[in-house]
Amino acid sequence: MQTQTQIADGVVWVGTSDRRLERFENMHPLVSGMAYNAYVITGEKTALLDTVDAAVVPDFLDRVALALGDRALDYLVVHHAEPDHGAAVMQLLLRYPALKIVASQKAKQLLEQFHASEIADDRFVVVAEGDTLDLGGRSLRFFAAPMVHWPEVMMSFEPALGILFSADAFGAFGALSGNVFADELDFEPRFLGEMRRYYANIVGKYGPQVQAVLKKLPLGDIKTICPLHGPVFRKDLDFVIGKYDVWSRYEPEQRGVVIAYGSMYGNTKQAATLLAESLARRGIRNIHMHDISKTHASYVISNIYKYSHLVVAAPTYNNSLYVPMQTLLHDMITLGVQNRDVSIIANGSWAPRAHTLMRELLDEMKDMRALGEPFVVTSALKPAELPQLEQLAETLAASVLKQ
Ligand code: FEO
Repeated sequence: MQTQTQIADGVVWVGTSDRRLERFENMHPLVSGMAYNAYVITGEKTALLDTVDAAVVPDFLDRVALALGDRALDYLVVHHAEPDHGAAVMQLLLRYPALKIVASQKAKQLLEQFHASEIADDRFVVVAEGDTLDLGGRSLRFFAAPMVHWPEVMMSFEPALGILFSADAFGAFGALSGNVFADELDFEPRFLGEMRRYYANIVGKYGPQVQAVLKKLPLGDIKTICPLHGPVFRKDLDFVIGKYDVWSRYEPEQRGVVIAYGSMYGNTKQAATLLAESLARRGIRNIHMHDISKTHASYVISNIYKYSHLVVAAPTYNNSLYVPMQTLLHDMITLGVQNRDVSIIANGSWAPRAHTLMRELLDEMKDMRALGEPFVVTSALKPAELPQLEQLAETLAASVLKQ
């Protein structure tokens, strides 16, 4: 038994949430589960825009049936073929024998790969940039959005209603709880952080591709943004579009310092803490310390996206780098993190080299600029070394406060 959430005249949300899921992509921790959005448009023809993850297909199919009433489904538009949106494709083809899949050529290939099945060519309407699907009273104009977040992705725009169906773009981690619109659910405290974490860790590698899409979308005509995850936006669109613009240019949102430290016995932590307190005394207001052995990298990287400066602090380990720091920096390389000022605190007891190894990994990223001299602790911090740590704090604070 389901109820319907109307997005606009003739457009119904048929998404659903999975609160049991612990990790998105079996990797990124979820605090409150995950929402998978899909939409039914009814004009003279009917169209379902995307499907959902396998875990929530029965609920989704009930919602689709309710939205269609006694009408058949004419089109399934696949904006994104990734399994979290494509799990119900084969069931829909069986359930609606006249159904056509509207998708890019690449999406057609990926659907067949993921479902390990050839789908008859006459079940597809292959579309490309600039094509329009006429639904009779409603229509969808397609925009190619390659690598936002996979190569086959398309977005579509319904001009009569001003709705952008944005695929993964503008999505967020987190389940929906009755309210679907961002303006109904305390968006900033509840979802902005999870929207940033989703962007940084899922889409963030593809900043240039996000910029390319932002430049060609009819931004001035968009009244509603319907993503495949998280809330739907119908107010303050400039705010979320502005966030995507800043994130995809790898610019920080705020001046501040993320201190990501790994520490075996507390000595590296102590140096990182003294640095944070020294920064605070110098008037720095946004300081975020993360113990990278405890905090999942997705949260750390999300904060690195938000703030202007980064400190990495870790010990030497087996003549190499402390493993959680290796993991974090490799994740950052993979995600294309770039354009930050970075200071280093290292530790080592007989052959310290963590500072050199961290610098080498930072150099594999773009524009991760060295700020100050690396501060190297030998086992534990000595009082005589404090002036050098204060000097690093002074250099860092001056850079943060510089506009
Ligand atoms: Fe939500 Fe790229 O899938």
